[in-house]
Amino acid sequence: MKTYLKILSTGIAVPDKVLTNYDLEKIVDTSDEWIVTRTGIRERRISENGISSGDLGAKAGRMALESAGFDPMDLDLILVATASGDHLFPSTACIIQDKLGAKRATAFDISAACSGFLYCLTVVYSLLNSGVFHNALIIGAETLSKITDYTDRSTCVIFGDGSGAMLVTLGDDGQGIFASHLGSDGSFASVLSLPAGGSRLPASLDTVASHMHYIKMNGNELFKIAVRSMEEAAHATLNKVNLSIDDIDLLIPHQANIRIINSLVKRLGVDKSRVYVNIERYGNTSAASIPIAFHEARARKICDENSLILMVAFGGGITWAGVLLKG
Ligand code: ACO
Repeated sequence: MKTYLKILSTGIAVPDKVLTNYDLEKIVDTSDEWIVTRTGIRERRISENGISSGDLGAKAGRMALESAGFDPMDLDLILVATASGDHLFPSTACIIQDKLGAKRATAFDISAACSGFLYCLTVVYSLLNSGVFHNALIIGAETLSKITDYTDRSTCVIFGDGSGAMLVTLGDDGQGIFASHLGSDGSFASVLSLPAGGSRLPASLDTVASHMHYIKMNGNELFKIAVRSMEEAAHATLNKVNLSIDDIDLLIPHQANIRIINSLVKRLGVDKSRVYVNIERYGNTSAASIPIAFHEARARKICDENSLILMVAFGGGITWAGVLLKG
């Protein structure tokens, strides 16, 4: 019998502090009109000093556990997708494991930038099917504001902070994740990266002075790759189970840029009424964008246990991914 990766509960955490386009007008040479037209973003959430991705991730994870009445001590696995982890090491998953008191859980991070959450879902699906683990808490957690250059108007208008979590187990009642597709192409690594602070370019006074510890992005190049790769991810995922885009009730794309989403939607031939978008309120929260959107879509009853939902993402690496689920 086919198994599904059943979603027991979800949780989110976003900082209270709102950074609007009008606030950004006071920081860099930009305008609300430019940002809304070019990106669809009106505001984003920014964490306070001292608050990390691990803090937001633990909060979202705790919400998911509490809403399912699940004891943290019963957790087998914690997987965290982040591009703005607390440290190079230890993993943010280990930090969150400690915060949650999930002493029995194995914990590790996955690095796939904005595709990270869908990578985690796919890896967890395989691990649970192998019988090594029986349940998992999957978290996308980002505090991109900590690695964003607020003197660079081409990147600082895009990114925001937040976290989303899913508690999952295996099931055979037809509910949950049942198909996925992952892709990567390292030849595009330089299109979106954080150049300094790793072993290639260790931290130094020079790297700090030249702002190399901040996100660097070739926006135009990324735009084309994003649309192409998410379209491929959508078709490849659907093909695996002989479904077509017309079968989908809801498309949840990575919230990168409204123009990327609109181009994707046009190429896929999906009606906009079947696409979940919240980028205007959160900006691009990388690995957190899809779990936040999914949690909201459920809470707003835009989807229910009978909905067929396709999630697609692309991210630095570059990476891309599609995940299909019922419920
Ligand atoms: N305000 C005003 N003007 C700006 C701003 C700004 N915030 N940013 C750039 N500009 C200017 C540029 O300097 C340029 O001016 P010039 O013509 O005088 O040189 C002009 O606007 C056009 O710049 P472009 O880069 O061509 O603008 P574009 O329409 O491509 O929009 C953007 C830039 C928004 C970054 C777009 O390329 C984009 O969204 N790309 C995809 C990026 C993305 O999705 N990033 C997410 C990465 S993370 C992830 O999700 C994987």
